[in-house]
Amino acid sequence: MDNIQKALFAKEVKQGLRANPKTLSSKWFYDEIGDQLFVKIMNMPEYYLTDAEFEIFSTKSAELIEAFGVKDQYFELIELGAGDGTKTIELLKALRFHDFAYRPIDISINAIENLEARVKREVPEVKVKGAQGEYFTALSSLKSNHPKVILFMGSNLGNMLDDQANSFLKALAEVMNAGDKLLLGLDLIKAEELVLPAYNDAQGYTAAFNLNLLTRMNNELGANFEVDSFDHKPKYDYDKGLALSFLESKKKQTVQIEYLNESFDFEAGEKIFMEVSRKYDDSSIKAISDNTDLKLTNRIYDSKHWFTDLIFEKQ
Ligand code: TRP
Repeated sequence: MDNIQKALFAKEVKQGLRANPKTLSSKWFYDEIGDQLFVKIMNMPEYYLTDAEFEIFSTKSAELIEAFGVKDQYFELIELGAGDGTKTIELLKALRFHDFAYRPIDISINAIENLEARVKREVPEVKVKGAQGEYFTALSSLKSNHPKVILFMGSNLGNMLDDQANSFLKALAEVMNAGDKLLLGLDLIKAEELVLPAYNDAQGYTAAFNLNLLTRMNNELGANFEVDSFDHKPKYDYDKGLALSFLESKKKQTVQIEYLNESFDFEAGEKIFMEVSRKYDDSSIKAISDNTDLKLTNRIYDSKHWFTDLIFEKQ
């Protein structure tokens, strides 16, 4: 992390830990250890989201392609937050004889390089060129007048609250041309017995992933968090469709952060809010897509109806 990043990290940590209730932003989860733990979470049997969306991409690719409406014309397939591409490769296989270029965008240069190599190996017919960076910076570098299909999968939009998600979709629609498509993968509201284990796997990878942010503050900001004195406590509110992750202080304690030259008090049982993973229904889907110039044209589900890939067309 360079000094500018570190200063920003420190500033956000300070704001978050001074707030009431305390909060830390999940955007700092992804250091090297965080990246590795995230891949492990995605591969846990409890994490049904990956399996459900993989099923859509492997068994319903023809339906997806039909919904893209690209026919014989050249188009760009842009993916936001591409990760390791396991699901997308299924779609690329089905698209291999179409005229298009695949443009994955990810914040991690590692992810981009590995994905480019993987596509060249597994689907050599497909033209691939990735871009490293934040979504909107990378998107503006890809601005062109070719028809676009944008993929935003994995219920990653669900890590934003609805008003943020709505602003995000508005901004995304602004870089799209009329007729361009957006595929949005969203997790759906379902029983607590199914949702909670996805955010609290038996191996403890999700707990380690959340607690790793404390370790990161120790390493990079000279904090002295006793990582063992915090518990990972996810919660699910079925009526609101909100899965929420918290860290809970097991005791009354004070933590120093050298870089900030400040200390922070925790009560026994006090929680730090870490992340939301939204579970959607029709009314929340309407709320996030309202006033965006994006028209919902298709809804594609996995066989259990646990997850959906929605197709929107820019008006
Ligand atoms: N967006 C996915 C989800 O909310 C992936 C994800 C982001 C995630 N942060 C996470 C999964 C933390 C588990 C824990 O499910």
